[in-house]
Amino acid sequence: MKYLRMTLILLTVLLGGNTVLADVPGPVIPKGNADKCVLPTKQMRLEHMEKILHHRDQTMKKGIRTTQFSFKKCISCHVVKDKAGKAVNYKDKRHFCNSCHTFASVKIDCFDCHASTPTGTTNTSTAGGHP
Ligand code: HEC
Ligand code: HEC
Ligand code: HEC
Repeated sequence: MKYLRMTLILLTVLLGGNTVLADVPGPVIPKGNADKCVLPTKQMRLEHMEKILHHRDQTMKKGIRTTQFSFKKCISCHVVKDKAGKAVNYKDKRHFCNSCHTFASVKIDCFDCHASTPTGTTNTSTAGGHP
């Protein structure tokens, strides 16, 4: 049960965290900047980690370049801006990817190398490839 924690969190979110756990607020998840995601929202909630890791492996290990699960696209469509209109980065708890991760205590290192804002820079040139 690799994703048991996910399942528990999702049950909380989907069943309406506020009614199930009266005093525990659920995560505030910002909307994407489009009508829909690359897959149905419910499926993305459950499977985004597998999809993006699989896409990474296809790209890095097999050289297959598809765009459905492009990391840059996730970041640009899911951009969250502050009051000044500046995109917030992953250090900010309002960042889309952080919204649930903070709540769920999930730690990812992806943004050590990948930009977490559409115009952000990465340090991939010095990182020298995928871990
Ligand atoms: C063209 C815009 C767009 C792209 C590209 C995109 N998304 Fe989405 N995403 C959305 C929208 C819109 C929703 C639905 C929000 C809703 O239903 O409230 C969504 C929902 C989600 C959710 C569920 C959020 C929730 O409310 O539970 C996750 C997780 C997610 N996306 C991750 C990703 C990842 C990872 C990628 C890249 C592989 C990606 N998205 C690419 C627009 C996009
Ligand atoms: C709807 C809530 C939600 C959103 C939004 C979300 N995540 Fe997640 N993500 C989770 C949860 C919960 C887990 C942990 C699953 C588990 O361990 O059971 C997770 C796990 C992951 C993992 C795997 C971590 C590991 O070590 O196994 C990656 C990679 C990931 N998320 C990437 C992203 C990226 C990139 C975004 C933004 C584009 C994003 N997530 C947005 C809820 C979310
Ligand atoms: C040590 C630096 C480093 C870390 C950490 C890292 N990546 Fe990457 N990643 C790279 C480099 C370099 C590439 C190659 C860029 C290219 O060829 O487009 C890449 C490519 C990718 C791609 C395929 C191209 C794309 O943009 O869609 C995906 C998807 C991806 N990484 C996801 C992740 C996820 C998810 C994590 C966190 C679990 C992560 N990466 C962590 C360096 C890193």
